[in-house]
Amino acid sequence: MPDAFHSTRAFVLETPNLLLELLKEADAGGIYQLYSDWKVAQELRRIVYPFSQADASAMITRAQQSFAQTSGYILGIFLKEHAAFVGVNALFIPANDEALSAEERAEDAGLGILGYSILPDHWGKGYATESSVRMIRFAFDELGLTTLQASIRQGHGASRRVIERLGFRVVEAGIEEEPTYGGPAHIVDRYWLRREQWNSAPTE
Ligand SMILES: CC(C)(COP(=O)(O)OP(=O)(O)OC[C@H]1O[C@@H](n2cnc3c(N)ncnc32)[C@H](O)[C@@H]1OP(=O)(O)O)[C@@H](O)C(=O)NCCC(=O)NCCS
Repeated sequence: MPDAFHSTRAFVLETPNLLLELLKEADAGGIYQLYSDWKVAQELRRIVYPFSQADASAMITRAQQSFAQTSGYILGIFLKEHAAFVGVNALFIPANDEALSAEERAEDAGLGILGYSILPDHWGKGYATESSVRMIRFAFDELGLTTLQASIRQGHGASRRVIERLGFRVVEAGIEEEPTYGGPAHIVDRYWLRREQWNSAPTE
């Protein structure tokens, strides 16, 4: 149930170099730049492509709605220095998603689904890792989730490096997933991180 905390739009998580903030309309340009880039979109199952300015605005509206419902934390990643937008880190909580059936929600109790995307100009600077460490801490310590999940295409070396460094382990390999934008299915591995494993994960 949304509470006073979740009805506020100002929501920020901090790391040494980054601020993770709930998306707002002013971020539409950055969101468009991120997801209209095929290098980014091709790895994402749920993104439409081509991705338009209207899609960027719709994503921001969805981010604010899912935040109010506590079913999603779709956060912009900003450099503390210069306040530049560099990407998105997202946590979805299916058990709080009112669009799912009661059975589906019960099955997913305690589960969070992690996602991240960084503007290509900023790849390789550690931002996906640094922002995800903070999101994981939020998920386990502040939301009380028990398992985090991520699905990564088998050939996607950079994202596999990120998720494995965060402590996630493969629980199911070789799953076919059809991207929203069409074309051949992706062959992905599903990864999990359990809260009890998190103690041995890296620090910020
Ligand atoms: C995946 C992605 C988020 C990584 O972001 P990032 O900020 O560059 O990630 P980090 O800098 O934290 O870490 C990347 C690591 O992968 C490594 N790497 C990069 N390309 C690689 C490759 N082809 N094979 C193996 N490792 C690779 C980097 O060297 C780095 O590891 P290191 O720190 O040990 O050197 C970014 O490439 C991206 O946005 N891709 C498109 C969207 C996407 O794929 N999202 C995830 C969907 S599962």
